[in-house]
Amino acid sequence: MVDITKVLVLNGPNLNLLGDREISVYGNSTLEQINNNLFQLGNQLNISIDTLQSNIEGELIEAIHKAKGKYDGIIINPGALTHYSYAIRDAIKAVGIDTIEVHLSNIYGREDFRHKSVIAPVCIGQIAGLGPFGYYLALQYFASRRNANGQQNKGFNGYK
Ligand code: DQA
Repeated sequence: MVDITKVLVLNGPNLNLLGDREISVYGNSTLEQINNNLFQLGNQLNISIDTLQSNIEGELIEAIHKAKGKYDGIIINPGALTHYSYAIRDAIKAVGIDTIEVHLSNIYGREDFRHKSVIAPVCIGQIAGLGPFGYYLALQYFASRRNANGQQNKGFNGYK
């Protein structure tokens, strides 16, 4: 499909406040710092990255629609939308792009309403609780399963 692996990194509501918001839960990295690290890692891994943060559900949905045919993978931290946005779930399912859900915090160790993700079932996997490393690991996953022809394989087949 595309020569270079292309990954779209989406962040949902309130993640623009990282570095300032509930530091004991989310750490002190800003979203800009996380994205800069992703760009650097992307350079090393030969992955081109686009990023979008939005506090508006519809903007995230439109970004997912437009991603069809353009990206090999999506990394998404949907913020609180994780727990109730069937619309984001349906958008990911509709475009069929392999998506990894990331959370900075361990949502399973927090309030009950955070224990359920309505989005994770349509993702290839979920990483929660590892802080910003979750994003970096997700990117490494997309790099690791790229085959010698530069194409993305489906499912896990890295680190052979
Ligand atoms: C979060 C967890 C969500 O429950 C919360 O609403 C967020 C951030 C995380 O990264 O840990 O906004 O997605």
